[in-house]
Amino acid sequence: MADSTEKKGFLGSFLSLPNDNPKKTLFVAIMLCLVCSILVSTAAVSLKPLQTSNKKDDIKRNILAVTGLSDEPGSLDELFSRFEVKLVNLETGEYADTEIDPVVYEQRKAAADPMMSVELPGGIDIASIKRRANLAPVYLLTEGDIIKQVVLPVHGYGLWSTLYGFLSLDGDFNTIEGLRFYEHAETPGLGGEVDNPKWRAQWEGKKVFDENGNVEIRVIRGHVGPETVNAEHKVDGLSGATLTSNGVTNLLQFWLGEHGFGPYLKNMRSELGK
Ligand SMILES: Cc1cc2nc3c(=O)[nH]c(=O)nc-3n(C[C@H](O)[C@H](O)[C@H](O)COP(=O)(O)O)c2cc1C
Repeated sequence: MADSTEKKGFLGSFLSLPNDNPKKTLFVAIMLCLVCSILVSTAAVSLKPLQTSNKKDDIKRNILAVTGLSDEPGSLDELFSRFEVKLVNLETGEYADTEIDPVVYEQRKAAADPMMSVELPGGIDIASIKRRANLAPVYLLTEGDIIKQVVLPVHGYGLWSTLYGFLSLDGDFNTIEGLRFYEHAETPGLGGEVDNPKWRAQWEGKKVFDENGNVEIRVIRGHVGPETVNAEHKVDGLSGATLTSNGVTNLLQFWLGEHGFGPYLKNMRSELGK
């Protein structure tokens, strides 16, 4: 018997154990876990660059969609190259004097870095984002020297999640061209209706500021009709999703206000003589 074990070797004699042997069962289970974890981690590591590039493309697609450029002929990169990307110092509202490449700048990462962001105290943090990066990118669509549209990244908390999106303003820095979210985890059919094309279409033509320069844009509870006072600043509430609707109002009021792009928009509007 000892002779036959020696001939088969350790693995051979182990495999010749009956299948219901506890040692063999444990060994097979461990090997299976090991092989599967190697496969999963290899896939995760090797697909990471593809995932990152898909995410970047998705952001570009959303910027094109919010400006209406996605309907035009041309590849994603060709169309996106029509934008000039600049970094804005949100404190001063001026374009930032920095070595950082605006195209590779990651606002989300910057917001998590205490050297590149500020903490927002409760009273100011109406979008519930806790920290705000000092610099934010803007995507300018120009014709000659004239800015036709400017796309601003916006984000803030809804009911279940932080909604990330883009708001596009016309060259008057007041009239909305579009609002579009590219990432959120609100409930489909309720808060998830922020993605409904009919709801999104309502934003076009709405005005951000009143005649005194106050941010007036908001999502109301209910429907905006001909009788609605100041309808140019209002969009229908999402039915059954007042909390997400309020989140959208709050995030817009934050990012268009004095702690967001407010100083930048004020500068740009005053250049236009408004
Ligand atoms: C499973 C579930 C998911 C919900 N998802 C959302 C949501 O994504 N956004 C939202 O505002 N309300 C959501 N609600 C409803 C809120 O709890 C709340 O009732 C609602 O925002 C109030 O809006 P209303 O006054 O328009 O009904 C959800 C409720 C349930 C039970």
